Amino acid sequence: MSKNDVVIVSAVRTPFGRFDGILKTTSSFDLGIDVLKEVIGRIGLDPKDADEVYYGTCIPAEYAILTNVPARQITLGAGFPEDNISLTIDRACCSSMTALRLGCRAIKSGDVEVVIASGAENMGNVPLIASAAKVRWGNRLGPIELEDVLFELGYGRRGFAPVATDAGHVAIEYGVFREKQDEWALGSHQKWFNAYGEGKFKIGEEIMTIEVPQKKGDPIIMDRDESPRENLSPEKMASLKPVYGSPTVTAGNAPGMNSGASAMVIMSRKKAESMGLKPLATIEACQAAAGAPKYMACVPAQAIGKMLVKQGKTIDDMDLIEINEAFAAVTLVSLKMLADDDPGKWQELQDKTNVNGGAVAIGHPVGASGARVTMTLMYELMRRGGGRGVAAICGGLSQGEAIMINV
Ligand SMILES: CC(C)(COP(=O)(O)OP(=O)(O)OC[C@H]1O[C@@H](n2cnc3c(N)ncnc32)[C@H](O)[C@@H]1OP(=O)(O)O)[C@@H](O)C(=O)NCCC(=O)NCCS
Repeated sequence: MSKNDVVIVSAVRTPFGRFDGILKTTSSFDLGIDVLKEVIGRIGLDPKDADEVYYGTCIPAEYAILTNVPARQITLGAGFPEDNISLTIDRACCSSMTALRLGCRAIKSGDVEVVIASGAENMGNVPLIASAAKVRWGNRLGPIELEDVLFELGYGRRGFAPVATDAGHVAIEYGVFREKQDEWALGSHQKWFNAYGEGKFKIGEEIMTIEVPQKKGDPIIMDRDESPRENLSPEKMASLKPVYGSPTVTAGNAPGMNSGASAMVIMSRKKAESMGLKPLATIEACQAAAGAPKYMACVPAQAIGKMLVKQGKTIDDMDLIEINEAFAAVTLVSLKMLADDDPGKWQELQDKTNVNGGAVAIGHPVGASGARVTMTLMYELMRRGGGRGVAAICGGLSQGEAIMINV
């Protein structure tokens, strides 16, 4: 332990909503504001003491009608002082883990002392858009055509395949077939329900409540994730049709299109001591990676692998692993790579990965998920009395992030 270690002193997220659920028209900005207030409120941190706020987001169309610089709008909305420095980060689904990495780097450089790493997304609130070429400059006569940036979630307009399609093809290439993906996805829901039943994901720890105003009557108080499904059967799962032309990815083994926000306060151990704050975990390393655009399923393993080599550690040194279930296929392919294709080792790694369920059950509000997997890992290590773990996530066009923490 060193005084210069970067430590996490507060970590919280909103419950994650379903695509068509309670939060479907709540702006990601409001989710971001709520989570920022909560993450500092829990430790009594004055906003003026947060040197910089990094905010991850992934689908700019959602907030396009609210104009740009979401990080700045959110910090002002949450009551941060006018001279607070903020930065919006778009590294696709990696964004809020990238926020953590950049925060660590800034603290280690000595440039700043306290950083908030956060992220938010509301996929249900993404508007349909009309292109300038077709409408503003093009539509002298005739009906207006709207586009749905969520459809085929991917980068099809720039010549890339939908992410679900790539994930399915790469999974097959790595010998991870539909049955295995469905089994993992079912397990994700079951593990979440077990964890929830044991009092995990409880308010005041990983989760905060949010109030969702209604047109009529009292606001809805949202206090748990909306996506986990009970009473699933392997038969129903197997009957679902693949989406977007993927060979294996279905609504069952993919996460939904979710809403939610997450945030963490990080600072040097020295600073935490001087402020009388208890470190919850030490961030031992952060690592970015990128690979061939089709191979998004591999990039969490690549980020973890790079980090382990630099840290002189192996995957066996990790007590727990979180790999974001961008699809069940992603977690399984990356674990298989980390296991060097050894079946016994692959199983061993599966047993300590996403032990309370993953994004297939919890949801994947893309900009918020990087910090989510990190805090889910941290709170579970805390419940177990400590240990070391790694969390990793992939992002569109094969970007990746990994983070190693010690509790
Ligand atoms: C897969 C996807 C297209 C499904 O969207 P959707 O059709 O709105 O999803 P739904 O939740 O309505 O599910 C569709 C059907 O599958 C069923 N279903 C979903 N999950 C199921 C499960 N685990 N077991 C059994 N049935 C399930 C639903 O009940 C529904 O059936 P119904 O039509 O009879 O009501 C969408 O969630 C998606 O694109 N997800 C991927 C998001 C993504 O790419 N994220 C980024 C990763 S990098």
